[in-house]
Amino acid sequence: MLPRALLLAASALFVTVLAQDDGSVSGPTSSAAAAGYSCDPTKCKLPTCNCASTSPPGGLSPSYTLDAVNQFLAHRQNPNGCQPKTTYYTSLNFTNYTLVTDWFVAGNEIADHTMTHVGDPPVDEINGNLIALNALAGIPLKSIIGFRAPFLNYSVNTLKALYAAGFTYDSSSASAIAVTDPGTDAYWPYTLDNGMANDCLDVADSCKGQPALPGFWEFPMYAYFDNRGAAGTHLMDPWLDNANGESKINDTATLEYMKSTFMDHYNGNRQPIGLYTHPVHLSTTYPGVNPSNSTINMINTFLDWAQEQSNVWIINNAQLLAWMQNPKSIADLDQVDAFKCSTPQVDASTKICNGIPANEDGLLSHCDFPDFPFFTCYGCPETEPTVDNPNPQQQVPDGQQQRFRLPANCSTPFWDPIAGKCLCTSATCDFVDNSRPIGPNGANLTGGGTGGAAGASASPTNPYVPFNGRGFALPSGMWYATVLGAVGAVLGTWGVFGWRL
Ligand SMILES: *[C@@H]1O[C@H](CO)[C@@H](O)[C@H](O)[C@H]1NC(C)=O
Ligand SMILES: *[C@@H]1O[C@H](CO)[C@@H](O)[C@H](O)[C@H]1NC(C)=O
Ligand SMILES: *[C@@H]1O[C@H](CO)[C@@H](O)[C@H](O)[C@H]1NC(C)=O
Ligand SMILES: *[C@@H]1O[C@H](CO)[C@@H](O)[C@H](O)[C@H]1NC(C)=O
Ligand SMILES: *[C@@H]1O[C@H](CO)[C@@H](O)[C@H](O)[C@H]1NC(C)=O
Ligand SMILES: *[C@@H]1O[C@H](CO)[C@@H](O)[C@H](O)[C@H]1NC(C)=O
Ligand SMILES: *[C@@H]1O[C@H](CO)[C@@H](O)[C@H](O)[C@H]1NC(C)=O
Repeated sequence: MLPRALLLAASALFVTVLAQDDGSVSGPTSSAAAAGYSCDPTKCKLPTCNCASTSPPGGLSPSYTLDAVNQFLAHRQNPNGCQPKTTYYTSLNFTNYTLVTDWFVAGNEIADHTMTHVGDPPVDEINGNLIALNALAGIPLKSIIGFRAPFLNYSVNTLKALYAAGFTYDSSSASAIAVTDPGTDAYWPYTLDNGMANDCLDVADSCKGQPALPGFWEFPMYAYFDNRGAAGTHLMDPWLDNANGESKINDTATLEYMKSTFMDHYNGNRQPIGLYTHPVHLSTTYPGVNPSNSTINMINTFLDWAQEQSNVWIINNAQLLAWMQNPKSIADLDQVDAFKCSTPQVDASTKICNGIPANEDGLLSHCDFPDFPFFTCYGCPETEPTVDNPNPQQQVPDGQQQRFRLPANCSTPFWDPIAGKCLCTSATCDFVDNSRPIGPNGANLTGGGTGGAAGASASPTNPYVPFNGRGFALPSGMWYATVLGAVGAVLGTWGVFGWRL
């Protein structure tokens, strides 16, 4: 598990990436006046509605959450004995689709990060990625429920587009007012029935009741605060930032403020806290990337320490959502299906291209595109997917047959894309995917077929905006070599989720 995980972690580097650039905050992004938020908890009730609140859902006493990556997680267990899972916000460029399949089948959440990594994304960037992830990675359409905007740059239109495309949540907003501040914006995830309550100073026409998107969830990203307080916020890849206004990375100081922010949450209302990372920065196997051992050890030390606190769980956003919708107290956490271990029962000797390494060995298609070669179980497209055509015709090698994409009535580990049949023969693996209104002209898209179908669009392609688009000064030593080859633009998110007895 670990080496594979590292492989995908390695796959997250994307040209010259510096994480602070993709979603930094430098101070509060909201205020009470700007938010003008009001929500009547007697009318807005779970599971479909939840007011923005610093208190945990369902009248429970406070609990806790935090987010991370597999070199940090593979050896860990939650209190129920299951390995922690993460959410991966995935883009098209440099993505090795077979690894996305593998990670999904291993129980992680695959979420959308646009096709070509653009801020304030046009609808086709968002929806095209759903189509490509379904066609080339075999991710069921109903399993791609979350979105994070590149550069955390989203607009009201982004949220509306997500709602229209059947997403369940966005996680692009920042909470950058500490939980210890009476005006904190560290809300538990909430629905947008009454509009946004975060980022009111940053995002035009949001807040004061807008945008009203009933049942659609916002998962704020919770900042860490160093000893400068509000002037020392850290969000993405905090370990790549200089702490306390120092002039270089100091892992000791980073660990100190991560612990202190964690404790502020833990001793208060236990809002979730996240570890939001571009995993490649921490890859020990990717050529040209040399993370310091001290940083890797620091993150593991932090997680060891967090797990020593009582009732701390490490979960991903899909798991947090399931719990938010139906909150359970600590005594009942073993009843939360989303927290349970998930191992599909497929015989290891079966030759089937299904996202399980032992089964799919030797069966992958190699799609040898010059920009980003990748592997997939589901047959190579004739041309690289683009925003205009996220699901091109399939290219069929001589002597072979077209492969069959994941249909709506079979789940990924049981679908044989070569034989075009479902191995599932019992009720325990029954599966029905949902269609989504992301086809041309608003038509619904369902899985299946062999490629070349839905999703082609007439709207103009938007240019790729590299991570370093904001033009900030780079701390020395933070540039990584430009990476060639197949890598995936992936953001990992994982959460620690704890409980007070
Ligand atoms: C990302 O992929 C798109 C579509 O193939 C391409 O136009 C763009 O140049 C790529 N960006 C990078 C950085 O390779
Ligand atoms: C967000 O992205 C859009 C489109 O790329 C760009 O015009 C805008 O300047 C970006 N906003 C910020 C705050 O970076
Ligand atoms: C690193 O941070 C620690 C804790 O804040 C501090 O004691 C130490 O002096 C710092 N080291 C350097 C080299 O600045
Ligand atoms: C970092 O850790 C790795 C693996 O434990 C080890 O091989 C390497 O020598 C270490 N590097 C340094 C500079 O300590
Ligand atoms: C899935 O649907 C196809 C027809 O659309 C049908 O032939 C097949 O038996 C179904 N498979 C399962 C596992 O229900
Ligand atoms: C299209 O999909 C939506 C869910 O995204 C569903 O509610 C609707 O019934 C579907 N329409 C058709 C015609 O299947
Ligand atoms: C893509 O993933 C497969 C494993 O599924 C691996 O064999 C291959 O080397 C990866 N390709 C690249 C270019 O990383």
